[in-house]
Amino acid sequence: MAALKMRVSQILIIAVASALLGLPYVFLYRKPSVQHMLSNFSSSLLQPYEHMITREHNTELQYILSRAAMPNKTVIITTLNEAWAAKGTMIDLFLLSFRRGKNIEHLLEHLVIVTLDRKAHERCLQLHPYCFILETPGVDFAGEKSFMSEDYLKMMWRRIRFLGDVLEMGYSFVFSDADVLWVRDPFPNFAKDSDFQIACDKYIGGPYDVGMNAPNGGFLYVRSNEHTIAMYRYWYAARLRVPGKHDQDVLSVVLQEKSFGRLGVKIRFLETLYFSGFCQMSKDMKRVVTIHANCCKGGLSNKLKDLQLALDDWRSYNGLLPSNQDTRSNTNPHWRVPLSCRRSKWMWWRRHKLL
Ligand SMILES: *[C@@H]1O[C@H](CO)[C@@H](O)[C@H](O)[C@H]1NC(C)=O
Ligand SMILES: *[C@@H]1O[C@H](CO)[C@@H](O)[C@H](O)[C@H]1NC(C)=O
Repeated sequence: MAALKMRVSQILIIAVASALLGLPYVFLYRKPSVQHMLSNFSSSLLQPYEHMITREHNTELQYILSRAAMPNKTVIITTLNEAWAAKGTMIDLFLLSFRRGKNIEHLLEHLVIVTLDRKAHERCLQLHPYCFILETPGVDFAGEKSFMSEDYLKMMWRRIRFLGDVLEMGYSFVFSDADVLWVRDPFPNFAKDSDFQIACDKYIGGPYDVGMNAPNGGFLYVRSNEHTIAMYRYWYAARLRVPGKHDQDVLSVVLQEKSFGRLGVKIRFLETLYFSGFCQMSKDMKRVVTIHANCCKGGLSNKLKDLQLALDDWRSYNGLLPSNQDTRSNTNPHWRVPLSCRRSKWMWWRRHKLL
């Protein structure tokens, strides 16, 4: 009897001790491989990386992510500021698209809305269960930011940093700007073997060719693993080497770097046939998944008008199927967009020297 008691307490001690010793490894299990992978990089390529999110904030984020995630630890993330949160503007249209899309309303259960200011946060709480506020002291993220202004760039980089933190917490994500309409489930269109999949303003071909397509970080699918965690650290650090640039421009530079290649990230560019936008609309309504209000620098009201129009086109296409389809076969469903955004489309092409 005494011997048995002895054994029980021994087992308990061993169990407690190993739990205590093992605990840090449970939390940090990704770290050694990431550190190892990055050990070769000079500090100019990779600044020391401190986490921006405070401890309490971190707990809250963990909680929201765990609630919103799919069983395979995947979440959908969008960001929202005051200008896009107002009633009857971007966020309403964004959420509406899930309801008008093809059986995708359930995806809203996995959506986390990251708000950039108090007003956006208040509106979010009225609309959606998963809102996370990402404030940066000293920066006013409210209001419409003009493209490439200093605050706009800060906002973009803050977003990159945040998404890196999400990956480090072990969550994969689809990131979508709120000016992207979702009309079909994107998951069947993602490749199983790629780490980082990104939509394009202009897709020419070669889904794995880093030199060919013009990527747009407004829609991404990123799997959490040591390659992508290292990639986000590398990308974020690169803003200091390539200053005054948009995250996408820096990404284009980074993708061509030999040292980036060593991170072993499998990148895939998504075809605009599925993941389209005003720069290059999908040619096929039977396959279109998302519609991004890109190539539209004419301000919020133009974006809203054309997104509304795109959603109407999508709805009338669905109305045509299946009963009316034959009688109206010569009026092929087509996009009327971009319309209000068109002028700025031309300017976009010129800026990118594609015209
Ligand atoms: C570090 O660099 C050396 C030489 O360039 C290379 O052989 C090694 O695989 C690298 N290690 C990692 C973890 O990338
Ligand atoms: C995660 O789950 C969703 C929903 O079931 C699925 O569509 C997606 O392909 C899954 N992702 C991975 C990486 O298995």
